[in-house]
Amino acid sequence: MTHILAIDQGTTSTRAILFDAALRVVSVAQRELTQHFPASGWVEHDAEEIWQSVLACGRQAMAGGQAVAAIGITNQRETTLLWDRATGEVLHRAIVWQDRRTAERCAQMKAEGMEEMVTARTGLLLDPYFSASKLGWLLETVPGAKARAERGALAFGTVDSFLIWRLTGGRVHATDATNAARTMLYDIGAGRWDADLCALFGVPMAVLPEVKDCAAEFGVTDAALFGQALPILGVAGDQQAATVGQACFAPGMMKSTYGTGCFALLNTGAAPVRSSHRMLTTIAYQLDGVPTYALEGAIFVAGAVVQWLRDGLGVIGAAGETQALAERAAEGVVLVPAFTGLGAPYWRPDCRGAVFGLTRGSGPAELARAALETVGYQTRDLLAAMQADWGTAGAAVLRVDGGMARSDWAMQFLADILGAPVDRPGVTETTALGAAWLAGQKAGLCPGPAGFAAQWALERRFEPAMGAAERAAKYARWQRAVAATMMF
Ligand code: G3P
Repeated sequence: MTHILAIDQGTTSTRAILFDAALRVVSVAQRELTQHFPASGWVEHDAEEIWQSVLACGRQAMAGGQAVAAIGITNQRETTLLWDRATGEVLHRAIVWQDRRTAERCAQMKAEGMEEMVTARTGLLLDPYFSASKLGWLLETVPGAKARAERGALAFGTVDSFLIWRLTGGRVHATDATNAARTMLYDIGAGRWDADLCALFGVPMAVLPEVKDCAAEFGVTDAALFGQALPILGVAGDQQAATVGQACFAPGMMKSTYGTGCFALLNTGAAPVRSSHRMLTTIAYQLDGVPTYALEGAIFVAGAVVQWLRDGLGVIGAAGETQALAERAAEGVVLVPAFTGLGAPYWRPDCRGAVFGLTRGSGPAELARAALETVGYQTRDLLAAMQADWGTAGAAVLRVDGGMARSDWAMQFLADILGAPVDRPGVTETTALGAAWLAGQKAGLCPGPAGFAAQWALERRFEPAMGAAERAAKYARWQRAVAATMMF
């Protein structure tokens, strides 16, 4: 048994990546996922399509016939599913983390003064982003669901839990601590489902899965699925898996993943740090029953701003063109990409995007430059908030991954505007790598955290080259642009 299969079920696609025991990528399979938008602000996924894409990608990645010792699962977090324990039938399309249908309910609960209690127990803010209000909506809306849930006939799960259930032929209903931490039903300090929170969101506790460590025995796959029964030994939400894949095991280490959005996690060690700057407190990973906590900042638009240049404005043909455009662009245009509101640290779902500083000479190059710069500014917002929460000793270096991390120009600007080094690793498949390592070390194939951290290899370090005065002036312009956007 020499290989590990990582399943990465993300928001826009499903991937399966086969790693060898040295954690080198052997094969990759990928399938896009249909996005359903049944109403304004609603986002759904078809659970059967998720399941079929996992099966197809898994089979394709293992087509070489390699002996697989273990499976690791990582997934889009918060996305909410509800199914029948007896038949396996899913009651409704999955409600995706981006879905805002419960915004009013959350706002009402906030107005009733409930956020403090929710945040104290879960580390999260009362926002529709998390699973609890989505699950509450499903139980209220699907006819008969509440009564069936109370009878113990239904199971709730985030995507990891749904996949474990399906992969084990309905024998295991489990999740890991990182995914549980995103439901808003889990007390991250006590390490258990919280009866008060369940009551608050109208969730019978009988629907909840068992919570395990990230490296644990999650059951064995039905032999018919992949031609062999494979143990599932690693599970983590995708941003937490990337934190693990980046080997951010020591307090003060931080990673930032640039996909459609951007998620930055700062390892804060054995005790949860409460944020005074509207960051989230979450579980980075849990090994041997011991949780390690993180502060997390989520920004909704990172790579999506480049997609907008390509698909919305049509000023570029491919994402890779932004680099050359940015290199020859004039300075001065500031873009605030609040297309779906502003996330951390502002949390203003009502805001919309804006462009400042346009001149007659502003064109595609200036917009491309402004778009790449947004990544730097928004990351600095997160970093500043986290450092204020945790003390300035944290995050002296930022480890980056995700599609946009491939842009040298964007990463250099990021280092410049942070005034801190930015490290890009040799392996950029960090999310899948994290899941593979969790499963691989549980299977006895891979070294423990220290050995894995020693294997982490740098591809390139971006050192800050901008002068302090210029950095301060540029960041101040960004802050003015955000303030004006929030007032509009
Ligand atoms: O919290 C949502 C996050 O887990 C989604 O990540 O990479 O699937 O967009 P991604």
